[in-house]
Amino acid sequence: MNSTNSRTILLKKMMAIAGLIWFLYLIFHMLSVLSFHSGEAVFSGFYLWLNSSIFYPILLALLVLTISFHVVIAVSRQLSNNESVGERYKKVYPKAIPRLVAWLGASIMLAFIVIHSVQMLSTETVDLYQEIHSIFNQPLMWFIYGLGLLSLSTHLHHALANVLQTLGISSAQCKGLSVLIVMVIMAGFVSIPLGILYA
Ligand code: HEM
Repeated sequence: MNSTNSRTILLKKMMAIAGLIWFLYLIFHMLSVLSFHSGEAVFSGFYLWLNSSIFYPILLALLVLTISFHVVIAVSRQLSNNESVGERYKKVYPKAIPRLVAWLGASIMLAFIVIHSVQMLSTETVDLYQEIHSIFNQPLMWFIYGLGLLSLSTHLHHALANVLQTLGISSAQCKGLSVLIVMVIMAGFVSIPLGILYA
């Protein structure tokens, strides 16, 4: 195996590890926000504790580092891929759509993560429960969160199916399992605005 190949494989593995860290965070975050259904004291109390904990700055730094790494490697791999593929890259329009759609989806997901993190981390209030209520009283926020969750679910589905296949699970099982995992995570997040709507 030449050095370019082993470097490519190493970068792919590191990208997958960065993605895995975000996947674990996503499960932790989904379980944390589910405490919303237990009421104001539990939810706001949990986030007051988390925000003042020693682990919080470490968590934030880890999330920023891993997502930046993941994005930079993905973009640079795509750019060098374009160069090496050369003329073949200039596909006729319909064939280029999946690649465009994938990158559009990933960009929407990234934009959502940035908007949501800035929105949450810049809030002055200690009562996050009320803050979440006021966020989901705005139709624009339903649109932004809907788009964010949709793009996240397609990205996650694609990534999980790839990882599961690498782990030796058959292609058909991978698709089913990744759909199930994504649906459980999404149901957890979607239950928050729906809980507010039907309260
Ligand atoms: C309905 C869905 C969601 C709700 C209600 C929600 C709520 C929250 C809350 C309450 C915080 C904490 C603010 C603080 O600590 O002061 C937060 C932070 C954050 N959320 Fe979400 N979130 C949702 C979906 C998502 C999704 C899908 C992602 C995607 C990756 C995400 C990523 C983050 C990040 C990166 C932070 C900053 C780190 C942290 O405090 O944990 N959130 N969100």
